[in-house]
Amino acid sequence: MAKNNFRILAIETSCDETAVAVLECDKSKNNFEMRVISNIVASQIEIHKKWGGIYPEMASRAHLESLIPAIRESLTPFLGVKSEKLKVKSGDRKTLIHNGRTIPSHWRSPTSLIIQNFIDAIAVTTGPGLIGSLLMGVEAVQILAAYFDRPVISVNHLEGHIYSAFSAVNQKLKIKNQNDNVKFKIPKAGIFPILALIVSGGHTSLVLMRDHLKYETVGQTVDDAAGEAFDKVARILDLGYPGGPEVEKAAKSGNEKAYNLPMAMVGRDNLDFSFSGLKTAVLYLTKDVKSGRAKKFNKVDLAASFQKTVAEILTQKTIRAIKRYKPKTVILAGGVSANQYLRDHFAPAISNLQLSTFNFQPNFLAPPKNLSTDNALGIAIAGAVKFSQNKTFHWSKIEADASSVL
Ligand code: KG4
Ligand code: ZN
Repeated sequence: MAKNNFRILAIETSCDETAVAVLECDKSKNNFEMRVISNIVASQIEIHKKWGGIYPEMASRAHLESLIPAIRESLTPFLGVKSEKLKVKSGDRKTLIHNGRTIPSHWRSPTSLIIQNFIDAIAVTTGPGLIGSLLMGVEAVQILAAYFDRPVISVNHLEGHIYSAFSAVNQKLKIKNQNDNVKFKIPKAGIFPILALIVSGGHTSLVLMRDHLKYETVGQTVDDAAGEAFDKVARILDLGYPGGPEVEKAAKSGNEKAYNLPMAMVGRDNLDFSFSGLKTAVLYLTKDVKSGRAKKFNKVDLAASFQKTVAEILTQKTIRAIKRYKPKTVILAGGVSANQYLRDHFAPAISNLQLSTFNFQPNFLAPPKNLSTDNALGIAIAGAVKFSQNKTFHWSKIEADASSVL
């Protein structure tokens, strides 16, 4: 039987962020209550910026360098020692502060004592993602779990994106500030079915959940993911890396009505997406592909028109899915959900549904923006739900799977 009060250490290294989080959970109440103890993201953006994209081998190396410092950092709140990102100041080791236990000052490595005393299970992203990156996190967790004799929770990257949205109940949640003590709840009733739109660099999927951890992918992209289209358009427009935020920045001063771009699949009675035609349309507006000759175009107008078109496609398809499945909760998650234009377009379109055909109003959830992109807190939240259902493994039974599905 899983405990009602427990703490999860979670590690996410599926792509280019080394992320570690610690979450405290209380399942004994009416709601599933959670408290963020730490939420660390060591970003590799500066490394990959130079190349305009992710170099898988460099990503793996960077994970290797960042993992131990990030794990240490994630555990520092148990010491009561103030710390900055990845710079652990371990001056006052006499102070311990949890459940009245004191770490003796002669302990040179409080990290192991903290894991031993305070961590009940270790969650890790096992896929999908870059295999070299995934392996860094999975192997680190296998070693920790074997050494400390802890159960392991295997979490799919997309589950992490979906469950990140529950932290939005408290919109003040700040990333990278592990002393925040932010609390939030997952209600025990009245949230299902959930319809989640996951929009990231690798996925654009509509996922229906009739219960916790039960996923049915009801629509997905047939070619590029929405984030991938943002990244490619940023490259075409020479806007820099990472593409999504750069397109969003440029679009702010552009006219979204300047270009009329194609919305493939939107008219079709299915829940699938297509973004490669849209990306190609942007390319054709910027150059004559055959001769390679550049055409005249307005960069910010094109960025704004592209962003509007993506938001419109995502919104229209989600509305179609809402009409079909009548969810109680709609979640918008994944890296692209950090886009403010998309949020501003998407949320009211769903709220306005009530005024027309429907007599129900789905509750809308999106993670705080800094938890839209890859993070370990979502992995910890999904991990906590799994732990509460005894869905744990011995360390020897988990493995990285680059193409695992929900
Ligand atoms: O979920 P995520 O961090 O990693 C993957 O699982 O892929 O998503 C990364 C994607 C990238 O394609 C990035 O360009 C996009 O999310 N993204 C954005 C924004 N921030 C990140 N796209 C549009 N607007 C943004 N503000
Ligand atoms: Zn992701």
